[in-house]
Parts: sequence; structure tokens; C-alpha cells
Amino acid sequence: MRVAIIGTGYVGLVTGACLAHLGHTIVCVDSNPARVAAIESGECPIHEDGLPQLLKDGLRRGLLRATSDLESAIDSCEISMLCVGTPSADDGSADLGPLLAAARQVGEALRGRKDFHVVAVKSTVVPGTTDTLVRETIEHNSGRRVGDTLGLAMNPEFLSQGSAIRDFMEADRVIIGAADLRGQRALEDLYDAFDCPILTTSLRNAEMIKYGANALQATLISFANQIAGICEHAPGTDEAVIMTGLHLDRNLTARDGAPCGATKFLRGGIGFGGSCFPKDLEAFRHFARGIGAPTEMLDAVIATNRRRPADIAGLLDRLLGGLNGARIAVLGLAFKPGTDDLRCSPGITLAAELLARGAEVRCHDPLPAALAQASDVLAQRNLTDITLSDRLDQVLADADGAVIATAWPYYRDVDWRRAALTMAAPVILDGRDLLRGLPPQAGLVIQPIGIAAPANRPSHIATNGETIR
Ligand code: UGA
Repeated sequence: MRVAIIGTGYVGLVTGACLAHLGHTIVCVDSNPARVAAIESGECPIHEDGLPQLLKDGLRRGLLRATSDLESAIDSCEISMLCVGTPSADDGSADLGPLLAAARQVGEALRGRKDFHVVAVKSTVVPGTTDTLVRETIEHNSGRRVGDTLGLAMNPEFLSQGSAIRDFMEADRVIIGAADLRGQRALEDLYDAFDCPILTTSLRNAEMIKYGANALQATLISFANQIAGICEHAPGTDEAVIMTGLHLDRNLTARDGAPCGATKFLRGGIGFGGSCFPKDLEAFRHFARGIGAPTEMLDAVIATNRRRPADIAGLLDRLLGGLNGARIAVLGLAFKPGTDDLRCSPGITLAAELLARGAEVRCHDPLPAALAQASDVLAQRNLTDITLSDRLDQVLADADGAVIATAWPYYRDVDWRRAALTMAAPVILDGRDLLRGLPPQAGLVIQPIGIAAPANRPSHIATNGETIR
């Protein structure tokens, strides 16, 4: 089929490249000419495993191109997919400005044409958005009616950054919300090659499924972090062991030992970040409150996540016997491994918390593209006292402690025993449970999160370099 992808952020670009790979003809539309030029020349503007190759293949096969000219792009297409961002507005709701601007342009481009065309919303929007604001905008600007020569659909994405290509190509589900049968059929044809359940439903259910999916995953993370926070005050307990015990429930791990996907999120850490969970949970709660619906669960998930950096800083404080004046290395600024995305980075939030407690903070990330954005992000958040380096040895030199904030495999491969020799106090707080299983090293203290810090830790570090595993 011929599809225009409006917006070439990570959702749009991955969707376009994957659909081209499946043989569809794709035009990627973006108002940013530099981005269009990059895509056209085969340069991948984001860090996503496998995407550069798919983009090049699509260009080479003539199945993918990019343009800023939305009208001509749509002219050759049967489906327009709106993949523009829905950033958080100040009140926590999703800012629909970019989405409605795209809908207006699509509507205008459709005016005067006679052939059937489907507009599908892929952006994450609260229930009712597609059926009201998007529908009205497109109908008004195109002079057409949904159900006549216009189809309207909502087709949420379930892509996780770092594994987005696999998530698309081996989707566990396709959700097609549609306002009309012809629009629904067009989307079903688009996903014809997919060997997974396809749920067809209303526009509002499709919108709500996306929020429900993200809220569920975020709830699992906050649940694990709440347990971790309790363990950090309950000597003799270990959150990771407790989670392993929970995972063994047959609802989570089958008798043959195969864990279900939920176990991926039932793990303590330093909290969730990224472009999706924080923003989507806020928008979902704002929506629910606005219609007078209860939000206790969402409130708790958000609150637990917000306090997690302070809990981690508190754990480090107890471990080191104080943070004021301590030199702390924060390792990992990307919101998770496999991406250069710094949006709602838990590492940066933690660095800010440590700074507020009087620590001298230095940050490191092994991905140059992540580090390149970091100074802007720190400047926007008035955190210019935090220093940045691409050299791990530099951030660890004379440090009184380090916290692993992103589970980059790079940090697992570091020779920590040698690295610790350069530190003032060889204390690594393993915020992502990344170093578990490494053989104990004399002279190195590795403190996992989810375990209480021993009250007498500072003297132990100074005198015998006791190793905790
Ligand atoms: C998330 C969902 O996983 C996708 O299914 C969804 O499609 C996407 O949002 C979206 O709405 O577009 P993503 O944000 O890329 O994808 O990444 P996740 O792997 O889910 O991680 C989100 C955050 O949770 C990260 O900060 C990660 O470090 C954190 N996390 C994840 C934990 O703190 N603990 C965990 O056990 C798992």
C-alpha cells in the first residue's frame, strides 16, 4: 500500500522503515528540511539499532523517500499516518498543537481529491481525541465526511526504544481502532503480513489501550521500586531476591522456566524515564481527573517514581556517611541503554538530587550522541554545576562514590577493581542491578539498590575495603 508518514521522530521513522521493508511504498513527511535531507541521503537521525540499515534498504529499493511537501506526499498515498509528538503541556495534559496542525494540513491536502483516503492517528492521545478534535479538523479542512470518502483510524504503537525494529516486525499485537469499516479494512490490509492477533475496536478503546499498556508497565516498575525502597530500610532483605521469588509465581514464570514479559518490569531501579511513561502517565491522569474518574493508582505510580531519585540519594548518603562535599560520579545519562534519548533521564534527575544535597557531581555516558546533548539539557535545567565527560577514568578519579544510572553493558565490562584504585572511596551504587553476579573484588564495595546500607559503612570502606555481594 502507499502510506504517508507524517512526523519522522522515532515512531514515524521506525514505522516508515519497517513498512517499506514489508514492501509498502512510504513517503516520510517532516517540516524540518535538515531531517528530510538526512533521511534522503541515508543518514539515520536517531540512534536505534537496525534502523540505519532498514532506511538505506528502503531508499535503495525505491520504497521509501522523505519530503517536506505534505501535499504532494499525500497525493500519491491511500493512508496518512499521523506520527507527530504529543509533548506534555504545563498542566500535564498532552499538547495537541502539533497533531492538530498536521491534521489540518492533511485535511487541506485532501480537499478537491475524490479518491478514498484513510487518516490514522499513531501518536499517543487521550480517549476521544481522534473522534472529536482530529475528526473535526480533517473534515472541516478537507470538506469530506468520515464514512464517505474519508476513513479515520487510531493505530497505537508499542515500540520500545532500543528494540523498536524487533517490536514492530515481531509485534505481539496490532490494535486498529476505526470509525468506519472501509478505514478499518485498509489498516487490516496494511498489517496483512503480521502473524499476531489483530484487535479491531473503536477509536476510543484503541486510544485507551495504549495508555492502559504504558500505565500497567509503569505500575510494575513503581511496585518493584516501592519494594526496593522498603528493603533499603529493612536490614537483611534484598529486593532482587524478593523479585526473583515473585517471578517464580506460575502466572509470571511458566513451569518450563519461561518468564513472562511482566518480569522485565518487575525489577527495582532508579525509576522510569524516557519520552513515554512519564508523559503518558501524566496525560492519562489529567484526562481521568478531568472527567471526574478515580486516579489513586496512577497517583501512586507517579509519586513512587518521583521520589525514587531522592530515595537513591538517601541510600548513597547513608552508605557514604554524608553527601555534602562528596564527589559523586553518575554513570549513564541516556534514559535507558540502546538509545541516545535524554528525555526525562533518571540519571540527570538523580544528578540534580545529588547536587541539591551538596555533592560535587560528574556525569558520564558511553554513547557520544547522548553526551553531546547533555550540556544543553543540563543548561535548560539550570544544572551547569554538573560536569560531563566521555572519559570514565576522569569521572571516577578521586570520586567518593559512583552510581550506575543506566544499564549500559559497557559498565558491566569495566574492570572495576582497577577503576576503584583511582577512587577516593571505592563505592559503586548499582542502581540498575547490572553488576550482580560479578565475582567479589577485594577493595571494592558494590552496593545494589534494594538493600539497606550498613550503618557503619564509612569506617568499613576506609579500613578494610569490605566487599558486599
Ligand atoms: C515504553 C514501552 O515499553 C513501550 O511498550 C511503549 O510503546 C513506549 O514506551 C511508548 O509509549 O512509545 P520505552 O519508553 O522505549 O518504551 O522504554 P522501556 O524499556 O519501557 O523503559 C521506560 C523506562 O522505564 C526507562 O527509563 C527504563 O529504564 C525504565 N525501566 C524499565 C525501569 O526502571 N525498570 C524496569 O524494570 C524496566
